[in-house]
Amino acid sequence: MSYQVAVVGATGLVGRTMVRVLEERRFPVSRLSLLASSRSAGTRIPFSGKRVAVQELTADSFHGVDIALFSAGGSVSRKYAPIAVESGSVVVDNSSAWRMTRGVPLVVPEVNPAALEGHKGIIANPNCSTIQMLVALKPLHDAFGIVRVVVSTYQAISGAGQAGVDQLMSELKGRVPQNRKFSRPAAFNTLFHTFLEGTPDTDEEVKMIQETRKILGIPRLAICATCVRIPTTAAHGESVNIEFESRVTPHQARRVLGKAAGITVIDDPGADAYPSVRDGGGQDSVLVGRIRKDPGRDRTLNMWIVGDNVRKGAATNAVQIAEELIQRDLL
Ligand code: A2P
Repeated sequence: MSYQVAVVGATGLVGRTMVRVLEERRFPVSRLSLLASSRSAGTRIPFSGKRVAVQELTADSFHGVDIALFSAGGSVSRKYAPIAVESGSVVVDNSSAWRMTRGVPLVVPEVNPAALEGHKGIIANPNCSTIQMLVALKPLHDAFGIVRVVVSTYQAISGAGQAGVDQLMSELKGRVPQNRKFSRPAAFNTLFHTFLEGTPDTDEEVKMIQETRKILGIPRLAICATCVRIPTTAAHGESVNIEFESRVTPHQARRVLGKAAGITVIDDPGADAYPSVRDGGGQDSVLVGRIRKDPGRDRTLNMWIVGDNVRKGAATNAVQIAEELIQRDLL
């Protein structure tokens, strides 16, 4: 059995990676529609030995499409995801438009695949920072019970799409960027995301908090997030402080994480072995290292979690959701 697949936002950083991941994982595609704005119509993108032409996204784009992977921003998702569902497609949406909507599953396949059951056509792909953190936290939660999380992120600029990367690269070459994604310089700098009106928090921080609670099914989980963009492109790093119900040793945590799906533990201080963001880029495993006791708190560990934000944090997770839908006969 093979499926008609559409990628909305196919010319973007995540969209192009979705196309690559579909090919890499040999997703059973009978026909691939690549959709973007009118600006990109006619652009050709390689897929399985062919060069597929991008078409302009319109309300008629979804006829016959079984599964539509969206990554063209929130406003496109809000408008076109319901149109795609009306046409009979199942949507996996990478924007934040539908993530917190009641009844819309928010899924990381290693963490909560059963949430897909009973979907109503739209499935949300979580925020990149949330995905990699939860791949590591879920097995620890199952084994030891998590009561509190404090996370600080070191996020790649690629999370802001191609425009963010372009600004950083121009600045690094000493040029004035043609289009500014960020009002402040990206090179040699630290940037916060967008402050939510009337609050001291940024949108990214609130996403991490709300999405973690929804995916783990713990509405009152104590969690505090500080999200920072740094001038890297390969992957996000996260320093995560985790308090458990009872005492857990680094050795116990390493053993649980070593057996969990989607995780590689790289943690040997004596050999200078730890995951850098460069190690995490270009592959799909979530890398975990620096697992150690918090000297100031009982029952608490600190660790460092690295994940490719464009792949596992977006494109790969979306394709894995599509694979899980097929496995569960939910298309
Ligand atoms: P286009 O390249 O034609 O502008 P990124 O996240 O890297 O910035 O990519 C955003 C993606 O979303 C691109 O593929 C972009 O297409 C697409 N996109 C943005 N706005 C629209 C729109 N109004 N209709 C369809 N696609 C859009």
